[in-house]
Amino acid sequence: MLRDGLGLVSLKDGCAPQGQCGCCTVLVDGVARVACVTPAERVAGREVTTLEGLDPAERDGWSAAFLATGGSQCGFCTPGIVMRGTALARRGPWTQSDVDRALAAHLCRCTGWQTIHEAFDLMTASPRSRAGAASRTGGRDLRAAARRAEMEGGAPQAVGPEVPLGEGGFAADSAPDGALVAVPARSGPGAGVVEAAGSWWVVAESVAEARAGARNAPGRRGPGGPAVPLPLRPCPERGVRLATSWVEPAYLETDASWCRPGGAPASPLANGGAFGAKQASPAPAAARELADRLGRPVLALLSREDVVRMGPKRPPVSAAARFDGHRLGIEGWWVASGQSGPFPGFIPPYRIEVESSWTPRAVPGPPVSTSLRAAGAAEQAVLMEGALDEAGAARADLVSETAADVLLDTCAQVGSGARAGARVAIDAGGAVGSVAVRVAAGDPLDDVVLRSYAIGAAHMALGWVLTEGLAVDPDDGAVHDLTVRSFGVVRARSMPPVEITIVDDPGPPRASSSDAVFAAVAAAAWNAVTRAEGARPEVFPAVGTRASRAIGR
Ligand code: FES
Ligand code: FES
Repeated sequence: MLRDGLGLVSLKDGCAPQGQCGCCTVLVDGVARVACVTPAERVAGREVTTLEGLDPAERDGWSAAFLATGGSQCGFCTPGIVMRGTALARRGPWTQSDVDRALAAHLCRCTGWQTIHEAFDLMTASPRSRAGAASRTGGRDLRAAARRAEMEGGAPQAVGPEVPLGEGGFAADSAPDGALVAVPARSGPGAGVVEAAGSWWVVAESVAEARAGARNAPGRRGPGGPAVPLPLRPCPERGVRLATSWVEPAYLETDASWCRPGGAPASPLANGGAFGAKQASPAPAAARELADRLGRPVLALLSREDVVRMGPKRPPVSAAARFDGHRLGIEGWWVASGQSGPFPGFIPPYRIEVESSWTPRAVPGPPVSTSLRAAGAAEQAVLMEGALDEAGAARADLVSETAADVLLDTCAQVGSGARAGARVAIDAGGAVGSVAVRVAAGDPLDDVVLRSYAIGAAHMALGWVLTEGLAVDPDDGAVHDLTVRSFGVVRARSMPPVEITIVDDPGPPRASSSDAVFAAVAAAAWNAVTRAEGARPEVFPAVGTRASRAIGR
């Protein structure tokens, strides 16, 4: 009702009607509530406030705080978090555990939470330090900041005060009045189902009508933990082996595109790259084809359940690796459903010989994509660092000249020349206590954005190693649980502190440094957990380890 009936698009639909992502948070008589599971009748006669209805000074204060800390990247989750923060702030002074509790109702895939915490801290700071933060933002070159964001995310991304307020220009927010709505049908052909761009759609006058017609798949289909579809390979002597699950990219803005008859479709990548996941999105082609056919603008819109069923996942692998002092040998299988090219290569940041051989395997499961963040490259970087650890190799003696400036316990490099090193500290209870990262990205362009991307990549890396994976039916390949909470994304309260050092790296800006951070942190986490457990986990996510239990799986 709020979005589609009243046009209040500050609140977002990241998972409706699951009620699990927090993107649709509003205030009901001043109390934060997720709108997507709140029937309108239940709030009859009460006051509902969206971001549009906040006092401008209050709203701008939050926006400035998120901009100053880098706490908003794509900005899809931020309006909901701002509403939750507003409810908290109006109650009086808050503590850290109040913020933890408040953020527990939300999901952010981009930022890794730390910069969101910093935005909350800024809101409690003295007016003078807030003014100081605002003036620092005033001195920033936001176009350069946006360029860094684009170089990390691989798609245009704005950086400015409008982004935390949900004005990133998302296609689902900007469809013309009177546009028809097309949503994926669960099957076809059938009554009311049309074919467009190779898949089946239900077209109606509104999102609610279209979804009712499509009989959206239920969020939760069955039990089960993360599936690791390929068997473990034999482990070489003094080597390592690893098998991984399907991983949901978990971008929060579900695929959307709209098109006028005879026009060009709006990009589903309005404000960020979705970690490489929307490159083959069916929404733009369907919107164009249906608009041309029906003679009216059409918004093609996927639900969260559609994204989990249809969208690409990180390909599972099973591989073994060994380092003999000079040469690293890696042999692996990878799940290549729908992929035509070879397994991606990687750039070792060490002066070693590498022989890497990968064989595609077909198993039932969701589609995969090697365009997802460092897919393939990070797997090999992790196997390499594990093998170096098992061989007792001294990395300082092996590191290449270019990567020496970032080396911590591990390091990784990407094609642009960007590189990163990482150290993961485990506390006395076996949990991840802290993460340190050194990143070299050429000209940073904007330290705030680069740091935010690096923290977000560290967060995603810890999730990949410890908590993230999908439950998939081994017979028909269907994903068992389509809810956003089932992906295993590390929650705000579980995220350890991440310290980012931006290394002086003269020269032009280098792209995708956050991919290098992702690989380096994942490798450091795997080795650190191995030391803490006294045995190497051979499966990602490493469910059952103390580190995984402590961080939330
Ligand atoms: S859209 Fe309502 S909680 Fe996700
Ligand atoms: S900024 Fe939170 S999901 Fe993108």
